[in-house]
Amino acid sequence: MDLNDKKILVVDDEQEIREVLSTALGHLGYETATAADGGEAIDLIDRRHREFAVIICDLKMPRVSGDQVVDFVARNHPIIPIIILTGFAQLDMALDHIRMGAFDYMTKPFKIKELALIVQRALRYRALKEEQSRYQEYLVERIREVTSELNNSVIQSVGALIMAIEEKDIYTRGHSHRVAFYASLMAENIGLSVEDKKNLEYAALLHDVGKIGISDQILNKPGRLTNVEYEIIKSHPGKEVKILEPLSFLRHILPIIEAHHERFDGTGYPNGVAGEDIPFMARIITACDAYDAMTSDRSYREPLSPAAALEEIRSGSGTQFDPRIVTAFIDTHRQLLREIG
Ligand SMILES: [Fe+2]
Repeated sequence: MDLNDKKILVVDDEQEIREVLSTALGHLGYETATAADGGEAIDLIDRRHREFAVIICDLKMPRVSGDQVVDFVARNHPIIPIIILTGFAQLDMALDHIRMGAFDYMTKPFKIKELALIVQRALRYRALKEEQSRYQEYLVERIREVTSELNNSVIQSVGALIMAIEEKDIYTRGHSHRVAFYASLMAENIGLSVEDKKNLEYAALLHDVGKIGISDQILNKPGRLTNVEYEIIKSHPGKEVKILEPLSFLRHILPIIEAHHERFDGTGYPNGVAGEDIPFMARIITACDAYDAMTSDRSYREPLSPAAALEEIRSGSGTQFDPRIVTAFIDTHRQLLREIG
């Protein structure tokens, strides 16, 4: 609704003043609505605030007075300017109301010319405020866009780095991207919000970034790891947190990344947390990670078939994996097989 199509709300307990004001404003080309006291005015503004361009409000009214109307508008609809109507004796009070958020005041009796000027000024002020708030919204939106473009390019760079590291080793090639892909299918299946799905995909993509800090000999060692080597492997979630910590836009997904080797029964690492204490999204990544590890070729064993890997996931329900995630994974897997034929 254009500002010119809006009405001026006249609030005064004296019918005569309401009529004089409405007639005068009518002559000046404005449409008006009236309220006979503060209560009626607040009710009207509450229900139909979009209709009003400016409010002219008497201060002294029985029951609900003008200061309550000023307070209500300042709190709920600060875009609507309020002009206080006051007698000379109440000038101090009028100034107090301007401090509370009223736009200006007009003393009774008033001249039409004065009324015309003050209403014009109020309308100009309102138009400026609307312009300002539109500009602010535009700026906020623009900052959001730029930040998200920037964040995406950081994610892509880190993703490329991960790919480069995984490329060195035929056994882990594409692992993080596949885990992110499975996680995104799980997110859709579970019905996560767009925001959560994005966070889950980022966390899945970055879940092994800490392996950058672990030597290739240990990572690619054929056969069993010694206890010392295993302890080093177990340090990768902690390394992840250290590597990603400076990227403030990822800070909220660090607990998910850190917990991707926790087990539902509490025997995982690095913190040995169990059940619901493990972040929900970490529990999703754990299942996707395990499934991809089992179905990939490794230096020390042949890959499992999808059906055999799925059976392993099923048998880990309640120990390694959250039973709810296992159910969702079985569902998602069915869909995955259908899609890739
Ligand atoms: Fe890992």
